[in-house]
Amino acid sequence: MSFETILVERKGAVTLFTLNRPQALNALNSQVMEELIAAFAAFEADSGQLCGVITGSGEKAFAAGADIKEMALKPAAEFFAEDMFAPWTSRLVKATRKPWIAAVNGFALGGGCELAMMADFIIASESAKFGQPEIRLGIAPGMGGSQRLARAVGKAKAMDLCLTGRMMDAAEAERAGLVSRVVPPGELMAEALKAAEAIAAMPPLAILANKEMVNIAFETTLDQGLLAERRLFQVLTATQDKAEGMAAFVEKRPPVWLGR
Ligand code: CAA
Repeated sequence: MSFETILVERKGAVTLFTLNRPQALNALNSQVMEELIAAFAAFEADSGQLCGVITGSGEKAFAAGADIKEMALKPAAEFFAEDMFAPWTSRLVKATRKPWIAAVNGFALGGGCELAMMADFIIASESAKFGQPEIRLGIAPGMGGSQRLARAVGKAKAMDLCLTGRMMDAAEAERAGLVSRVVPPGELMAEALKAAEAIAAMPPLAILANKEMVNIAFETTLDQGLLAERRLFQVLTATQDKAEGMAAFVEKRPPVWLGR
């Protein structure tokens, strides 16, 4: 599969996706979206691939938003008829059961911040900047910014960012709970790939179940979430990898995962 706006590399069991429009600060146009959806579908279908990492090319940006030049002259009826931005959630986020990490190397603004928040967690470089500046363009977030940001950092900071359009640096984003780790710029990719490799070394069915479980927490009541957690936990006890993991612990040896 060859792409024009993204790069896709397999590194062992980890797939690295790189947004590759550095001249436009990796702005997300419809071609980027279609190519990422296709690349993620291939990643999901490949049983040898267990975790993904997404980053932006160049030093300056993860992604500076949806492509403003593409949207500037587009009639409103087309945004509505295409249900613009719906596929990001329906065909990328929901279709990907495997975990993926956003390695944010610079500006993550508008759709860029929203794409980072679609990932299962974010590792940021000290130079990363997050924001939802859509209000300054006379619009508002359209790829999940108001919803995922509010869930990640709470109402006060989500309102502050959406209404003022200001940027939040990596330290503030870590304090707010938006990112899980902040590292020096030169260490970002090594840290993100190391985290992805650590995940990819886990038993494959347990990887899927752990991701699914945490996501359920954002979709349901506590009681229903606890029930779903117990059921997934109980299902995993039927796997050969559960028998192997526990036997390896008792026998003080490394486990060998079978993925079943
Ligand atoms: N769309 C299209 N092109 C973009 C872009 C975007 N979102 N962001 C940057 N670019 C382009 C610029 O037009 C410029 O191209 P040219 O060289 O052809 O002029 C190039 O990338 C470099 O950008 P700047 O010269 O502006 O770089 P800078 O260092 O001066 O500023 C910046 C960097 C502060 C990030 C600035 O580029 C900026 O404010 N970008 C727009 C951020 C934004 O508003 N994002 C939200 C978009 S709307 C959205 O995402 C909706 C949604 O919810 C899905």
